Amino acid sequence: MDKLSGLKRTHTCGALNKAAAGETITLMGWVDSRRDHGGLIFLDLRDRYGITQIMIDPRHDAVYQKGKELRPEFVVSVTGTVNARPEGMVNTNRVTGEIEVEATEIRILNEAETPPFQIVDGVDASEETRLRYRYLDLRRPEMQKNMMQRHALYQLTRNFFSEQDFVEIETPYLMKSTPEGARDYLVPSRNYKGRFYALPQSPQTYKQLLMVSGFDRYFQIVRCFRDEDLRADRQPEFTQIDIEMSFVDTEDIFRIMENFMKEVFKKFWDTDLQMPIPRMSYQEAIERYGSDKPDTRFAMELQTVNDLVADCKFKVFNSTVQNGDSVVAMKLDGGAKYSRKQMDNLNKYIQEIGGKGVVQIKVGENGWDSSLAKFFDDNQIQALNTALFATAGDLLFFIADTWDKAHELMGSLRVKLAHDENLIHENTHHLLWVVDFPMLEYSEDQNRYIARHHPFTRPKDEDLELLETAPEKVRAYAYDLVLDGYEVAGGSLRIYTRELQQKIFELLNISKEEAEVKFGFLMKAFQYGAPPHGGIAFGLDRLAMILANRQSLRDVIAFPKTTSALSLMDNAPADVDPAQLKELGINLTVSNNKI
Ligand code: AMO
Repeated sequence: MDKLSGLKRTHTCGALNKAAAGETITLMGWVDSRRDHGGLIFLDLRDRYGITQIMIDPRHDAVYQKGKELRPEFVVSVTGTVNARPEGMVNTNRVTGEIEVEATEIRILNEAETPPFQIVDGVDASEETRLRYRYLDLRRPEMQKNMMQRHALYQLTRNFFSEQDFVEIETPYLMKSTPEGARDYLVPSRNYKGRFYALPQSPQTYKQLLMVSGFDRYFQIVRCFRDEDLRADRQPEFTQIDIEMSFVDTEDIFRIMENFMKEVFKKFWDTDLQMPIPRMSYQEAIERYGSDKPDTRFAMELQTVNDLVADCKFKVFNSTVQNGDSVVAMKLDGGAKYSRKQMDNLNKYIQEIGGKGVVQIKVGENGWDSSLAKFFDDNQIQALNTALFATAGDLLFFIADTWDKAHELMGSLRVKLAHDENLIHENTHHLLWVVDFPMLEYSEDQNRYIARHHPFTRPKDEDLELLETAPEKVRAYAYDLVLDGYEVAGGSLRIYTRELQQKIFELLNISKEEAEVKFGFLMKAFQYGAPPHGGIAFGLDRLAMILANRQSLRDVIAFPKTTSALSLMDNAPADVDPAQLKELGINLTVSNNKI
């Protein structure tokens, strides 16, 4: 007899309660565990809906014999009668805890080898093993929950934006390479040997063209591809909620995105988001938090203390001030408890992330407990303590470097200390708009200005004049949405005239010819009635990660890559057949780079 004949799954493993008592049902799922209790065998049967306890009584001998064959992860069907559990035996931790099923028939639908790790939450296996056997890892309840949450986020997104008249439109994955920012992933063309498509880093140009086409409000849940150095919050392919709107200013865009976040907060955290979301300029974010994505869930603000150290005798500080650079300070409440070793480690940390070091001074009852105290007179010490609100028992940090670097380094130290000292209250969440980003930044490597956001970002009207005289001072209509110290979205108002776009390309040192070849199609479209427009894109994976209270994107992506861009399960990237290469007209100049 075929294993499946006459079988029909009637319920899931998360469905039954005492209302079903007495019913004959059939469940299908995986054996989570088996316990032999003297005569009786108890099975936990699992599917994505939950776990149901099955009881196997030796009175049904055939079923009992089958029950003894069962091993973890076997796929089985169980037919039986639902029994309400007596009062004291109810398992309140399970939705199905009111009942158990007394098996009258068990069929093994498929056997399973012993899995390389247990299918449980908080599994004790390396991430490498989990990724190699991702299909098993995804069977674990916490991963299933993460995937379900992600699904709920897609649905909320689609409903929200559709209700607001946004149109979901797909844009191509095979497009022209327009490298700006990260490297492109290239796809060779067979029809036109020697030519390549590129996978989109984002649908930026297409969504702008859709505005020219009159779609007015567009959104897409879209995969983006970037060949860049990876970190826990970056994947080579990731998903954006991509949005573009016509005839809007930043206020219109902010209002809709705030309403979207309000729904997200309500659905996932059952929290009423305080509106409007606070805003902070880029300049202020750097000065107060040393980051353009500040984690504002804890205080520990930075202070520039140039005025207060200009006249001290400590050379590192006074020469920094003389050079026009910055001395940035910060205080850790109660930090004077730190040992010499802990302080050395903090210094090493700063050196590892590119700094020269961090000066650390303990505040005592009578002045500073530090060999550096001799370089400061009492008034200077007093003034610094006052500026930093420091009292006995605190630890002061000072970093002297260029404005950018001193703030960035201290900002990283701030976040590290907050984690070390557990300063962030779980279940608090802070959203913040960071606005008025500089339009350009100077790249020492490339010896030219590059666009901070992307080259389609519109400069602020009041800064237009600076384009000629001091381009680095020009601020853009560009904004990021920051959640708990992560950049969860970024966007801008766009340039919509050929003239201004051309001018920006010139500033970026992209010649007229090059601009024509790369972006001629967009500038041409601007000449056929382009509406003023702007938009934003959310990193959906990042949002899902924070909502799931995880620290790695890999926990919310079904089949992610490692930090070295490998897929361990199927071994991508991999060699291809020489015939395939020949067809594409590709000759390898390097021998295979073994992983
Ligand atoms: P941006 O490059 O800022 O803007 O990207 C938008 C958001 O996408 C997320 N993100 C990533 N998530 C995971 N892995 C990555 N490698 C990765 N890179 C970016 C971030 C980020 O805030 N076209 C513009 C948007 C616009 O201007 O409308 C863009 O792509 O959460």
